[in-house]
Amino acid sequence: MENPVIVALDFENGKKAKEFLLSFEGVTPFVKVGMELFYAEGISFLSWLKERKFPVFLDLKLHDIPTTVYKSMKVLGTVGVDMINVHASGGTNMMKAAKEGLLDSGAHQTKLIAVTQLTSTDEKMLSDELLIQQSNLLECVTHYAELAKQAGLDGVVCSAHEVKSIKETCGNSFLTVTPGIRLSNQQVHDQVRISTPHDAALKGVDYMVVGRSITQSANPADVYGKIINEWREVHENNNRSPIA
Ligand code: C5P
Repeated sequence: MENPVIVALDFENGKKAKEFLLSFEGVTPFVKVGMELFYAEGISFLSWLKERKFPVFLDLKLHDIPTTVYKSMKVLGTVGVDMINVHASGGTNMMKAAKEGLLDSGAHQTKLIAVTQLTSTDEKMLSDELLIQQSNLLECVTHYAELAKQAGLDGVVCSAHEVKSIKETCGNSFLTVTPGIRLSNQQVHDQVRISTPHDAALKGVDYMVVGRSITQSANPADVYGKIINEWREVHENNNRSPIA
């Protein structure tokens, strides 16, 4: 994996996001534009990023009736983002419609992934609030991943803890994108199912989404580098191991 870190641009406007990106001094990290920034700036900001060669994950987590999701994807697909997502809980038909919308827009290269359960959700919330009592979190996330795979999607958003089970069920090439990443000495914030870059690498995660650990740091490029290094160390050790 060339670059496993996706930096979440969780800023209130494009000006702040651009200032932040300037601190990377010529490096163009894979960036994630979520609801806050997209609602503030719209498609023009995505075009600004693409013109400057930033790989972009558009994290709008679509969840609506299949026709609406199809039509929305047909619009968003024209922007040329590298990754985009829907909620798996919208169901198989909705996920298939998302894929069709993307293909009909001509976005054949864009990876379409499904959010399984948010990394801020824990077992108690799953059973007491969402009333999903038939399965535990791991089973639920793995089941959603299986549905996403059957619907023709490229991967899922999940926590690092579920990656092994998802890869066993959906195959190794099915992408896993994991938020909730923290260096061992960092604040957890509102995330529940967290993991360090070291653990994420050991667990076979494909991409780590990192927001506040980088964006709220005094030296973002430095933390970004530390996360990549922690990840690479594990992979280099694995490659050296005679068992790997
Ligand atoms: O600041 P932090 O590293 O917790 O940011 C994580 C990012 O990943 C946020 O932009 C959040 O919206 C996103 N995300 C998540 N859990 C998911 C899907 C997306 O935290 N399941």
